[in-house]
Amino acid sequence: MSVSAPRRPVTAPDVRARKGGERLVCLTAYTAPVARIVDRHCDIVLVGDSVAMVVHGLDTTLSATLDMMILHGTAVRRGLDRALMVVDLPFGSYEESPEQAFRSAARVMAETGAGAVKLEGGAAMAETIAFLSGRGIPVMAHIGLTPQAVNALGGYKVQGRGGAAAQIKADATAVAQAGAFSVVLEKVAESLAREITAELAIPTIGIGASAACDGQVLVVDDMLGLFTEFRPKFVKRYAELGETADEAVAAYAEEVRRGTFPADEHVFGGEPKAVAGGSAA
Ligand code: KIV
Repeated sequence: MSVSAPRRPVTAPDVRARKGGERLVCLTAYTAPVARIVDRHCDIVLVGDSVAMVVHGLDTTLSATLDMMILHGTAVRRGLDRALMVVDLPFGSYEESPEQAFRSAARVMAETGAGAVKLEGGAAMAETIAFLSGRGIPVMAHIGLTPQAVNALGGYKVQGRGGAAAQIKADATAVAQAGAFSVVLEKVAESLAREITAELAIPTIGIGASAACDGQVLVVDDMLGLFTEFRPKFVKRYAELGETADEAVAAYAEEVRRGTFPADEHVFGGEPKAVAGGSAA
């Protein structure tokens, strides 16, 4: 009789060890039911600060708060058995000093049960990454297009083109040397992603950075067609759940207006019904 191996939870060192091996699969999640689905198929679940935009309807990720991340992280954790949960440190909760970052990250780890945090920034964040990593908090770095810096970057543009490539490469080297266990590379050209992935000893997780990376991440609401405000070129829609939901809500509204919902099968009778085992429903 063959016994299947237990599904051991994925850890940050497991992710680090996958460098150059089987590709890493990551999606965001913000709620327990979606986390349950993502957990069945992915290695990493990211509670991204994109929650501010796709769930809370805010214009940018800058308005995400630590309490918001902890609330969604706690919900997502309840839906997970196996995947590594990484929670974003939101804008303003870590940039001031390594100590501020530690206080924020420690709250996230203790209150949500996350296995790691993610923070944006390259060389400028190296000291903070080393501070957290050296104190028991695994850090996923995020370089290239860093949405929390959208105002400084002048929009959601491709990063590292031409002469700017050197800075992104320096950022990649800095976060890896500081102890990050992996790094998200967002919206950079394929050639740059390939070079960085070949040079780094830690896995690169691409979003808009080509299949040259060691893994991929997408915002779950984007790939399911639930968030449709805008659609970056790098998003592939694997479903159109927004359209499906719109049709379902329209059908419900129509039936309520016509008086055909609720129908007989949705209505309770005045007398309890006998069921097997003797109790009544
Ligand atoms: O917040 C987020 O969802 C992210 C991913 C897009 C990488 O940071």
